Amino acid sequence: MDSTDGIRRIAINTGGGDAPGLNAVIRAATLAALENGWEVLGIRRGYMGLLQDEVDGEPGLLPLSARSVSGITHLGGTLLGTTSRGNLFGLEVRESDGTWGDRDPSAEIMARFEALGIDALIAIGGDGSLKIAHRLFLKGLRVVGVPKTIDNDLGATDMTFGFQTAVDVATDAIGRLHSTAEAHQRVMVVQVMGRHTGWIALESGLAGGADVILIPEIPYSVEKILEKIAERERTRRRFSIIVVAEGAKPAGGAPSYADSTGRYGGIAAQLAEEIERGSGKETRTLTLGHIQRGGSPVPFDRNLALRFGAAAVHAVERGNFGCMVALQGKSVRSVPLGDAITDIKRVPVDGEMVHTARRLGVCFGD
Ligand code: F6P
Repeated sequence: MDSTDGIRRIAINTGGGDAPGLNAVIRAATLAALENGWEVLGIRRGYMGLLQDEVDGEPGLLPLSARSVSGITHLGGTLLGTTSRGNLFGLEVRESDGTWGDRDPSAEIMARFEALGIDALIAIGGDGSLKIAHRLFLKGLRVVGVPKTIDNDLGATDMTFGFQTAVDVATDAIGRLHSTAEAHQRVMVVQVMGRHTGWIALESGLAGGADVILIPEIPYSVEKILEKIAERERTRRRFSIIVVAEGAKPAGGAPSYADSTGRYGGIAAQLAEEIERGSGKETRTLTLGHIQRGGSPVPFDRNLALRFGAAAVHAVERGNFGCMVALQGKSVRSVPLGDAITDIKRVPVDGEMVHTARRLGVCFGD
């Protein structure tokens, strides 16, 4: 179907890790759709609400009205719930015997959209969820994607909502550590999120006054870190703040994993041990974890999310399916979803921000 004249009902879902700003997207998309006279259905927890009558004791589908999205712009989390578990297709599928299956339910999903008379889906998610949305588009579903991740690692958009909020939280934490580190003449190692890229580490480390910033894009050497600490000692700055992205790794080495599922973790503790042993200085660690995804989105993220939600409805109006809304420069545009999910946006190691940090004396472990 290439005309949007027939649009009567759209669905919205949120998938993958949550990010501050999700509710702002839901609110903007719902209000813009209602203004068109469309009905809006929220799908709980990714696609689970489509495949199960009930999810977590609530109906799987949630009709969205102006009232139901009133006053949610500033709320973290997602009104619809989300999920980041599941099979290759990224879907949790509860089988009739109650176990979690890993079959590909795409045919079932397509049939449910048809049966419910849903004319288009606005899928809000990160790389995993957008890959699902793209596969459903290739199977004939009319989909518009909205990029979401605090990692800010989606190639086709200059920024994703949630990222600035994560940087804000991490910067505040890093800033608070200076006084206690100086009081004890300690090295503090702060582990921040960022599955494959060092955007949060770089931006919060620079803003928070870190002395060392370790990112996946620049494999580090412990010797170089120890040299930086020793240099500070020589100039009577007897404490150091190190910010490390969870996916950072030593030169010639591998990232540290928290468990066998491939989730990152443990690098701060590993580094602290090596630093304490190599420098003789007391070293403490702080893993910020999910606090970077919690709380109310900062104004920048609220406004970017509201813009994305309204732009997604505009794409549906124009019949521009199989696209993803994206921030490019100062404008929100739509880009082909297939292109948007191919490349991860890594920190440019020769970029202006890394260069600035180096000019300020920040060590990247290289
Ligand atoms: O992709 C966003 C992210 O927050 C990563 O930075 C982090 O590694 C991951 O999600 C954590 O996933 P989960 O919430 O499933 O533990």
